Amino acid sequence: MTALPPLDPTALGLVRPDAPGLARLREFLGPDGLRTDAGALEAHGRDETESLCFLPDAIALPRSTGEVSRTLALCHAGRWPVVPRGAGTGLSGGALPVAGGIVLSLARMDRIRELDLANLTVTAEAGVVLADLQRRVDEHGLRYPPDPASRESCRLGGNLAENSAGPRSCKYGTTGDWVLGLETVLADGTPLATGGKNRKDVAGYDLTGLLVGSEGTLAVITAATLRLVARPRATLTLILPFPALDAAAAAVAALFLDGHHPAACELLEEGAIAAVARLVPLPAALAGQVALLLVELDGDEDEALLDEAAALEELARGLGGGEALVAREAAEQRRLWEIRSKVGEAVKQGSVYKEADAVVPRAALAELVRAARAAAARQGLRAVCYGHAGDGNLHVNLLQGDLPDALWRERRDAAEEELFRAVVALGGSITGEHGVGWTQRRYLPLRHAPAAIALMRAIKRTFDPAGILNPGKIFPDP
Ligand code: MLT
Ligand code: ZN
Repeated sequence: MTALPPLDPTALGLVRPDAPGLARLREFLGPDGLRTDAGALEAHGRDETESLCFLPDAIALPRSTGEVSRTLALCHAGRWPVVPRGAGTGLSGGALPVAGGIVLSLARMDRIRELDLANLTVTAEAGVVLADLQRRVDEHGLRYPPDPASRESCRLGGNLAENSAGPRSCKYGTTGDWVLGLETVLADGTPLATGGKNRKDVAGYDLTGLLVGSEGTLAVITAATLRLVARPRATLTLILPFPALDAAAAAVAALFLDGHHPAACELLEEGAIAAVARLVPLPAALAGQVALLLVELDGDEDEALLDEAAALEELARGLGGGEALVAREAAEQRRLWEIRSKVGEAVKQGSVYKEADAVVPRAALAELVRAARAAAARQGLRAVCYGHAGDGNLHVNLLQGDLPDALWRERRDAAEEELFRAVVALGGSITGEHGVGWTQRRYLPLRHAPAAIALMRAIKRTFDPAGILNPGKIFPDP
């Protein structure tokens, strides 16, 4: 496989907006609804994917679905690229305006339109910050479980576009599992509603399911109706330390087989433990450990969770594990969670990195870590792995260390390709939750047969014949 060529906007058949075009947008978006100042262009040219930056021509900030529709109709007529954006917390470059054009920010559409307690649903606009939505439903003893690491800043629309997930997808599934209906706008400005509040609905194709996770390439999501559940009455967090990676991986398989169903089951291997120890003081019991499992249990009663934690510790000890750290109080639980939640930041602080979001069938976890280490070592790189063990989904960070840039890029690509080939051979995929976006698209052919990719391209053409929506994403260059 060859290195990624830079995208050529002309090859995408796109035209950049001109001054009269921007003036027409400003007419109905208002002076603060269309930004072209250098600071805004720079800020909207990046997301949280490594250090990439592609400047857009303008940022549209509509306040309503009607304004989104008018914006898209104009962009469609001019064949200008449109890149929908939430908070820009994505990790695969999905919100990067790689072909210039208009960044369509949903940030000002952030209302919670309805909390329907009779049906246990919430309808919210795409720009609502996830944690704000969660706090609002929490006031009613309810929970919207998806919990990407960026939940304090990410916006619902980005979660929907990427079908985001986090630690709790182990028990509660991904964003898409909670979506009952969508309000969207098609590329030419036509509004399209899918689903509704029904728990079941098999009338025709599942357009809601298709649009969730379509990375802003098929339509712009402006609002969604989400399912809610009662918040569990009790939670408990524990860390199980292991002297060997295989023992931790075996414990993951064994605990599910034993009938446990934790809310979260997260793994930190050696490199991740060492990295986070530089940011968070680790309890003495974790010193010298080679792998950690952080498990969150939830249910109705504290006592039952304590019994379950004891059973898990026994199971872990049977596999060579050490004494468990158990936290019952909220503040203690937060302290244990910090050991996991700060890993990403800790790893990325130390070096330039490339993050691969690999997922394999859960039983292949240890093989995934070994494949990552082997692929990195063959290129003289280091790989640090951590993440959602209960889902078989680990974030593999390849580190540049002190390699010169050109060599790093070459070796990084070679290591990543070798890793993904191994992942696919294990029955896995090239992304579990971060999306294909811009940075992973060259690997799509490893995951899907040509016939599947051709079908996906045909779906893209059906929704967006002019190719204006988030161009350059998901698919490798032809
Ligand atoms: C995580 O699980 O920590 C997130 O997906 C973010 C990351 O990998 O950096
Ligand atoms: Zn993650």
